[in-house]
Amino acid sequence: MTTTRQLKLGANLNGIGNSIAFWRHPEVPINASVSLDFYRKQAKIAERGKFDLIFIADGLYINEKSNPHFLNRFEPLTLLSALAAVTEHIGLVGTLSSSYSEPFTVARQFASIDQLSGGRAGWNVVTSPLEGSALNFGKGEHPKHALRYEIAEEHVEVVKGLWDSWEDDAFIGDKINGVFFDPSKLHTLHHEGKHFSVQGPLNVARSRQGYPVIFQAGSSESGKELAAKTADAIYSAPESIEEAKAFYQDVKARAAAYGRNPEELLIFPGIGPIVGETAEEAERKYEEIAGLVSIEHALNYLGRYFEHYDFSQFPLDEPFPEIGELGSNSFRSTTDKIKQEAREQGLTLRQVALRASTPRTAFIGTPETIADLIQQWFEEGAADGFNVRTVVPNGLVDFVDLVVPILQQRGLYRTEYESETLRGNLGISVPRNRYVWSA
Ligand SMILES: Cc1cc2nc3c(=O)[nH]c(=O)nc-3n(C[C@H](O)[C@H](O)[C@H](O)COP(=O)(O)O)c2cc1C
Repeated sequence: MTTTRQLKLGANLNGIGNSIAFWRHPEVPINASVSLDFYRKQAKIAERGKFDLIFIADGLYINEKSNPHFLNRFEPLTLLSALAAVTEHIGLVGTLSSSYSEPFTVARQFASIDQLSGGRAGWNVVTSPLEGSALNFGKGEHPKHALRYEIAEEHVEVVKGLWDSWEDDAFIGDKINGVFFDPSKLHTLHHEGKHFSVQGPLNVARSRQGYPVIFQAGSSESGKELAAKTADAIYSAPESIEEAKAFYQDVKARAAAYGRNPEELLIFPGIGPIVGETAEEAERKYEEIAGLVSIEHALNYLGRYFEHYDFSQFPLDEPFPEIGELGSNSFRSTTDKIKQEAREQGLTLRQVALRASTPRTAFIGTPETIADLIQQWFEEGAADGFNVRTVVPNGLVDFVDLVVPILQQRGLYRTEYESETLRGNLGISVPRNRYVWSA
């Protein structure tokens, strides 16, 4: 039997927006980041568009220079458990830091959302880029980039081990004979590692999809390694199709080197499509949002990637300043790219700040233009799916109503959900329970 590869879609929902001035647009509800009603409606729109999943990003440190959405927003898992109750098909992926959480709690919370939603949960593993995060957890110094990834690898392994605590048919529930569970199907992890010591077992069973889907966001060498070893999907941020293809090949090859089927590691570049009836209308929408950003805000936004560095001390219209290794312990892959582009293209500080804060997406134009680009990226091996951000008001509705039908007509994208679980829809297999497997 031959199967046709199908495009996957995620909706990255982010309240009043990832871009710093989005909230100022008259059509953006000012309380969106803390409105269940807003998220419920967005999730329903994504579900109408047969999206595989909604995706909730997160962070653990703010200051007065942070992006407005970051200042007052829902904790992802709390939000997703509310959304589990008001959605039926869509996957629910939430971000949680492996640097500032305990594996037992993480395993338990995601397993619970997985059960609550009938097998639709996903965990986006991040290592927390911001040094200030350490100040909120009383754990001393923020771990260095390499150490964060070392911790992450062990963390994910422990979480997966805990998820296997119960074999799928462990709970017998024999009321007549008084047998609640079969003790031979209960497994205790006894993990003693460098960073974690966790006995187990977990006090919740696996859902019908086995484990929640593991996403990984982080594109440095260590990030790619972590994903290749442990993740089902990667959220990436390439700026061009060439960059996306190189990343795709690189990560798939790494997965194969670990003995995995590369098709079971899905790559989701983030895109912020701007759809217009005409190319001019789409451009006008972009200009409207970009025009809301002041240079002061743009410098703050840029600074956040570099540990909230104060760029306002430098002249705006001279070459981007020499800042050495700054940024390498936070958003390393992003800051490396910013520095490299500034150097290679001779950009000024003003240009770098405006580009970072209001990136002009390639996915802009008529519905056909955007569908063409998606098809090209998908078919040429740059993406398995896309994580779609809202960057203009009603961006998700426009995408669902105008772009999705074209993708469906072209046979690239589903018209109905294939499965009841997130893994099923993504076309990735249910992990075997390690204890059944080893037996
Ligand atoms: C596309 C993308 C999305 C990310 N989303 C988050 C997020 O929601 N929360 C977070 O704390 N870190 C997020 N990160 C940061 C990474 O998890 C990681 O801590 C940081 O980028 C450093 O890793 P890297 O150098 O491997 O990219 C994201 C990174 C990328 C590339």
